[in-house]
Amino acid sequence: MLGRLNHVAIAVPDLEAATRKYRDVLGAKVSAPQALPEHGVTVVFVELANTKTELLEPLGDRSPIAAFLEKNPSGGIHHMCYEVEDIIASRDALRAEGVRVLGDGEPRTGAHGKPVLFLHPKDFDGTLIELEQV
Ligand code: CO
Repeated sequence: MLGRLNHVAIAVPDLEAATRKYRDVLGAKVSAPQALPEHGVTVVFVELANTKTELLEPLGDRSPIAAFLEKNPSGGIHHMCYEVEDIIASRDALRAEGVRVLGDGEPRTGAHGKPVLFLHPKDFDGTLIELEQV
């Protein structure tokens, strides 16, 4: 079912400071910040040779990462995103194994314009997993 690692997402309290560290200290290629109001985040993509790191800062007062940053004020790894070929087939197979899919279980359009779903962290060893159909 699993394809490549699409990205690792890190919730950050200060997107500008985090971007500066990746760009100026680590020498990485970083995107301009993109506001994604429908996801409640502003994101900066760090382009790596084999995958991406995404830096996420809360946007608006109903951001899904606000509670995470309250618990982890200095930031932290928020989720991993794995690529799948068929997100509906993957969802159905996971549900058949008792894995909880977050929300109403219908894929939403993610930060890259592709369908995504999130799996309950308690069903994956404390890790929030995003599946993205590529
Ligand atoms: Co993601």
